[in-house]
Amino acid sequence: MEDFEFYNPTKIVFGKGTENRIGEILKKDKIKRVLFVYGQSSIKKTGVYDRVVESLRKNNIQFVEHGGVKPNPVLSHAKEGIKKAKNEKVQAILAVGGGSVIDEGKTIAVGAKTRKNVWLYFKRDEEIKGALPVYVILTLAATGSEMNGFAVITNEETSEKLSISSEYIFPKISILNPELTYTVSPQYQAYAAVDAIAHVIEYYFTGSYCPELQSRIIETLIRRIIDTTEIILKEPQDYNARAEFMWSATLALNGLTRLGIKDGEFPNHMIAHALGALYDLPHGACLSIVIPAWMKWYMEKNKSQFERFARQLFNKDNAVDGIEELKGWFKKIGAPVSLKEVQVAEEEIKKVVENAYGIACVWKMEKFYTKEVLTEILKNAKD
Ligand code: NZQ
Ligand code: ZN
Repeated sequence: MEDFEFYNPTKIVFGKGTENRIGEILKKDKIKRVLFVYGQSSIKKTGVYDRVVESLRKNNIQFVEHGGVKPNPVLSHAKEGIKKAKNEKVQAILAVGGGSVIDEGKTIAVGAKTRKNVWLYFKRDEEIKGALPVYVILTLAATGSEMNGFAVITNEETSEKLSISSEYIFPKISILNPELTYTVSPQYQAYAAVDAIAHVIEYYFTGSYCPELQSRIIETLIRRIIDTTEIILKEPQDYNARAEFMWSATLALNGLTRLGIKDGEFPNHMIAHALGALYDLPHGACLSIVIPAWMKWYMEKNKSQFERFARQLFNKDNAVDGIEELKGWFKKIGAPVSLKEVQVAEEEIKKVVENAYGIACVWKMEKFYTKEVLTEILKNAKD
C-alpha cells in the first residue's frame, strides 16, 4: 500500500426528514445569515424549498436567495452569487440541490473571501486560502460533492470546464435524506449511476498499483450502484435502494476509494468535461460515451486489472467482455454510448480534442494525453 494522508472533515447527517433540521443545525453553529443557493425548479416542485424556509424561519436564520443554478453551472452566475454574498455579508453558504448547486455554492464560498477573480483558482494560477463554510442538503446523489473538496464550473465565455480542489471547500455538514431523491428522473438516475461508477474506476484502472482492499471496496461499490439502480428504475420510491445508492455515490468520491493506490489519474473526466463544456451535455452522459472508448484504448496498459474487472463484476474471463458488459449496462439504463447518439458529428472530434487537451495541460496530463491519443480515444466513441 502506498503512503497516504486522509482528511475528511464533512459531518454527514443521514436519514428521513433530516432536511427539517437545517435551521437548528445552523443555529448550533452560530450561523445567523446564509446565502441560500438552489437550482432551477425542482426544490420548489418537491416542497423541499418550503420545508427549508420553514426550518430557517423557526430558528431565526436570515437568508438571501440565489436560485437558478443550471446543470453544468456557469461562471457568470457564480460571480453574481459572489457579489450577493459580499454585499449581504452572509456568514455561510447553504446549497440545496445536486452537484451543480453544491459546486456553485462552493465557488461562491471561495469567491466571497477574496478580491481576486475566482476563475484564477480554476486555472490553478492562484491557491485557495479560505472560504465561507458550506452547508448542504443533497437532492440528487451522483457527484460526491457533498463530502469532498472539489467543485467544477464552466466558463461559458471560453468554453472551459475546470475544477478546484481545496480543504476549505469540504462542506461543513451535509444532510442526506434518500427520500429527497425519489423524484430524480430515470434519465438522471442513469447519469448518476454512470458518474458514481466513473469516480471509482478512474484510479482502479490507472493506478500503477491498486491494493487488494481498494480493489474490493471499489468492486463492491460498483456492484451496489448497479443493483440499486436497477431497483430504483423499477421502483423509484424504494427507500433502501435510494439510501444505499446515495451513500455509495458519496463514498465513491469522498477520498476513501483512492487511498493507497499508486499514481492514478482522472482521464475519463478530463475528456467528459470537454464534451460538457462544448455541448452542455449532462456530466453522466458525457462519461457513458467516453468510458467504453477510453477503456478499449487503455486496456492493454493494465490488462490484469481489466481482466479482474470482467471477472469480479460480470463473471467474464476476458477484458474485452468486461468492457462490453459495462457498455451494455449503460445502454440498458438509457445512457448514451456514442457521440452520434448526442448529435456530435465525427468532424467535431477535432474541437473536442483541442478542448480536452486544454484541460490536460491544466491537470498536467498533456504528456500522456497528446492530441493524437485524444483523437484515437474519441474516434472509438464516434458511433
Ligand atoms: O435545477 P433543478 O431544478 O434543481 O433540477 C436538477 C437538474 O435539472 C435536477 N434535480 C436535482 N435534484 C432533483 C432533481 N430533479 C428532481 N428531483 C430531485 N430531487 O437534476 C438535474 C441535474 O442536476 P445536477 O446538479 O446538474 O446533477 P449532478 O448532481 O449530476 O451534478 C452535475 C455537476 O457536478 C459536476 C459535473 O461536472 C456537473 O457540472 N461534478 C462535480 C464533482 C464534484 N464536485 O466532486 C465531481 C463530478 O465528477 C462532476 O464533475
Ligand atoms: Zn464525475
